[in-house]
Amino acid sequence: MSWDDKLLKQAKKIIKLYPQKRSALGPLLHLAQSKDGYISDDSITVISELVGITEVQVKSVSTFYSMYKQEPTGKYLLSVCKSISCEINNSSEVINKVQEFTGLNNNETDEEELFTFEAVECIGACGGAPAVQVNYETVEGVTPENAINLCKWLKDTKPDVVVADEMQENFGGIKSFDWAIQDNSGATSTAPGFQTLKTTKAKK
Ligand code: FES
Repeated sequence: MSWDDKLLKQAKKIIKLYPQKRSALGPLLHLAQSKDGYISDDSITVISELVGITEVQVKSVSTFYSMYKQEPTGKYLLSVCKSISCEINNSSEVINKVQEFTGLNNNETDEEELFTFEAVECIGACGGAPAVQVNYETVEGVTPENAINLCKWLKDTKPDVVVADEMQENFGGIKSFDWAIQDNSGATSTAPGFQTLKTTKAKK
């Protein structure tokens, strides 16, 4: 096994939460992704040994869910919603502009490993369509022009932490609803921030 002791300890703690080891598969994949930013072959092997199922079974779950990444992403994962509410609010033009700016096709990463682009299904912000996520931090009501401004800002300033509220204020439009508590945490990586390895932190 090539996970270090700290990670293995975390994994065993997670496994203990479930009556059957294999039920811990999802959280263990999150753990693997927070380690590397994607699910490596090595992690597939480690997880299969930890929970006592085949590597193919682990792989079949990790490839079923699009938020488990099968290869490294760029520093900023740009996810633009293409589902119906966003589509009727001009998301195809937002997608065009993001692709134009980054030069990327769907699920591609640029050579500098700055951007990965993906057109995704509904991200739960239909009321604020069209919606975009950067490292899973959501911005609503994004116009094609502001999609370019957002990409430019990311490229020029390369923030270590992307915060939904900050991006919403600068590049968003109509929000779906008042979120009440201001979200001042942010994403420090493209691995979804489940905080297993403290992948989110408070903004100073
Ligand atoms: S359809 Fe785009 S967020 Fe739901």
